[in-house]
Amino acid sequence: MTVKELVRNSRSYRRFYQDTQIELDTLRELVNLARLSPSARNAQPLKYILSCEPKKNDLIFPHLGWAGYLKDWPGPTEGERPSAYIIILGDTRLSQHFGCDHGIAAQSILLGATEKGLGGCIIASIQKEQLRRATNIPPELEILLVIALGKPKETVLIEPVGPDGDIKYWRDEQGRHHLPKRDLDEIIVDW
Ligand SMILES: Cc1cc2nc3c(=O)[nH]c(=O)nc-3n(C[C@H](O)[C@H](O)[C@H](O)COP(=O)(O)O)c2cc1C
Repeated sequence: MTVKELVRNSRSYRRFYQDTQIELDTLRELVNLARLSPSARNAQPLKYILSCEPKKNDLIFPHLGWAGYLKDWPGPTEGERPSAYIIILGDTRLSQHFGCDHGIAAQSILLGATEKGLGGCIIASIQKEQLRRATNIPPELEILLVIALGKPKETVLIEPVGPDGDIKYWRDEQGRHHLPKRDLDEIIVDW
């Protein structure tokens, strides 16, 4: 895949073939991409928790918030849940500010997942203290993001933002996810 194809195919997926397992080695390969990604001051303060066992996944899932715009959808049902997670943590012993390091790391992970025929979703809506307790994360590691991963079980259609300017994604009767993206000319500023 070209970079353009990788970026285009790397959508936020929230429903998966839960039975399709993801090996620990695959998660390690994805974190290796994050490891090689840019880091402010090259401080490299991020740490990662990996989960690809159903029992561990069950400890993580209840503390995540899914698709805020889909008000009638509480998140993926059993059978369509992620097969794996990567929790991105900030090590406060190494830095107090994580800037956009975790965003860059998350994108590297998702692009790597796309290359492998997988998909996922960055999740910032996290019940952090509950997740910390459930997974025994020590206090010096700040919870920044969770990346949900799996084999995608949904179709995402990228569309132009309509004349009303509404950027909210939505689902049609077939369950397809419609994703408005702003036009290139709208986001490049004349000067
Ligand atoms: C920093 C960040 C936090 C996000 N948090 C959530 C979240 O908590 N729950 C969720 O379902 N999606 C979350 N998303 C996914 C966005 O909703 C998604 O990126 C957006 O709808 C655009 O879709 P796309 O990623 O396919 O381009 C997050 C994305 C980013 C970049």
